Amino acid sequence: MTDPTATPPIKYRKNGLTRGVTEELAESMKHGWADTERHELEPIPQAAHTARRRAELSAAYPGELLVVPSGNPKVRANDSDYAFRPSSDYVYLTGDLTQDAVLVLEPTGESGHLAVAYLRGRSSVDNGEFWLDNHGELWDGRRNSLTENERLLGLPCRDVRTLAADLAASTAPARVLRRHDAGVESALEGRTTAERDAEFEVHLSGLRLVKDEFEIAELRFACEATARGFEDVVRVLGTDAPTPERLIEGTFFVRARLEGNDIGYGTIAAAGPHATTLHWVRNDGQARPGDLLLLDAGVETNRLYTADVTRTIPVSGRFGELQRKVYDAVFDAQEAGIAAVRPGADFRDFHHAAQRRLAEHLTSWGLFGDLSADKVYELGLHRRFTLAGTGHMLGLDVHDCAHSRTEEHVDGPLKAGMVLTVEPGIYFQENDLTVPEEYRGIGVRIEDDILVTEDGNENLSAGLPRRSDEVEAWMAGLRG
Ligand code: GLY
Ligand code: MN
Ligand code: MN
Repeated sequence: MTDPTATPPIKYRKNGLTRGVTEELAESMKHGWADTERHELEPIPQAAHTARRRAELSAAYPGELLVVPSGNPKVRANDSDYAFRPSSDYVYLTGDLTQDAVLVLEPTGESGHLAVAYLRGRSSVDNGEFWLDNHGELWDGRRNSLTENERLLGLPCRDVRTLAADLAASTAPARVLRRHDAGVESALEGRTTAERDAEFEVHLSGLRLVKDEFEIAELRFACEATARGFEDVVRVLGTDAPTPERLIEGTFFVRARLEGNDIGYGTIAAAGPHATTLHWVRNDGQARPGDLLLLDAGVETNRLYTADVTRTIPVSGRFGELQRKVYDAVFDAQEAGIAAVRPGADFRDFHHAAQRRLAEHLTSWGLFGDLSADKVYELGLHRRFTLAGTGHMLGLDVHDCAHSRTEEHVDGPLKAGMVLTVEPGIYFQENDLTVPEEYRGIGVRIEDDILVTEDGNENLSAGLPRRSDEVEAWMAGLRG
């Protein structure tokens, strides 16, 4: 939140440029700028959806003031900020992507709300803000005017500097999405409670469980762009010399920035034994011919929906015998998991189906002595090698809807329109003395993004091959 006064104080830039501004220059800077207001603007494509989403939220909280900030940028050092990403709930409800913005649903009587987006509009030329302020548009680029934003977003927009006064004028009990804007939280101090705000966060998260058409189209595109990023990586992978994991990471990042906004999470470019470290984002190793490369990466679209895809590929282009055995077992488990994704199934069914299959394969390789697969599964012994859950919801966040009620999510049934990952894996740590030496350092995961349809599912990331022989043929085709 920024200063609530209509004419903000000017924070002078520290780079010396504005020191010693003469009256003549200040006067000159006030004049000679063309009016760039755009009068013909169509609403953003998600505007129809955001109105429905806000109506759904409104219906759940009659008579309450609801506040959802986009968040403030985090300072990296001095006047440099980290790249800003708005809070997912704010994006879901507005389609807007700007910083320091706040969506407010003001109660209108016993039921219903007026939704207002509080935004930073154009910066003033008259008071010099546009060039003398740290975040003036001369430095940061043109922003939409409030009127332009009303057309684009399809809801009333007000200057965010008037927010504190507007909040103070309301006497309704309030709820705020916490941890995004300390200024907004302090403006509401005494009017919200930690308990009610926690419930609000859970509710917002649950709203996003079932995706609408717009979101499904975004996720589909995210998967398509991600597939192109994986192809880019295969093209830079050396077959004779090692390829730095950082080059792999950087190659994928170029695709993410070309076709989308960013990567949706830190790229895991894990070669050889690094693949057994599930959160390997250091990416400071080398992918050598003979290694497997586990690449877990996703393009985030310009409207902030992300794919989450993993392929484990042989750097040389051909799986070794043991690598193929492990890979094919993971593929088999993933097939069993995907087959369990359908409306009405329990959320956990796909996890159990895949894990059961992994336990059977691991047992058949003699890794648990005389124990049967049933016993291994019952005791959970396979988990030494499978480590993680088999998947999660996907959408604006890579681990989407993470705060939603368990009975709607992990303890609930799947519904058409949900999108989740199915990502079984086998990971033999390099120092695991309980497995034969040749297994050590092998890590395989296959991860796809699965849409629950009316009668089953659709694999949104099917553009990338998964069967071991098809992976080899795909790599050979890309390498010519
Ligand atoms: N890349 C994060 C995950 O697979 O959950
Ligand atoms: Mn995942
Ligand atoms: Mn992943």
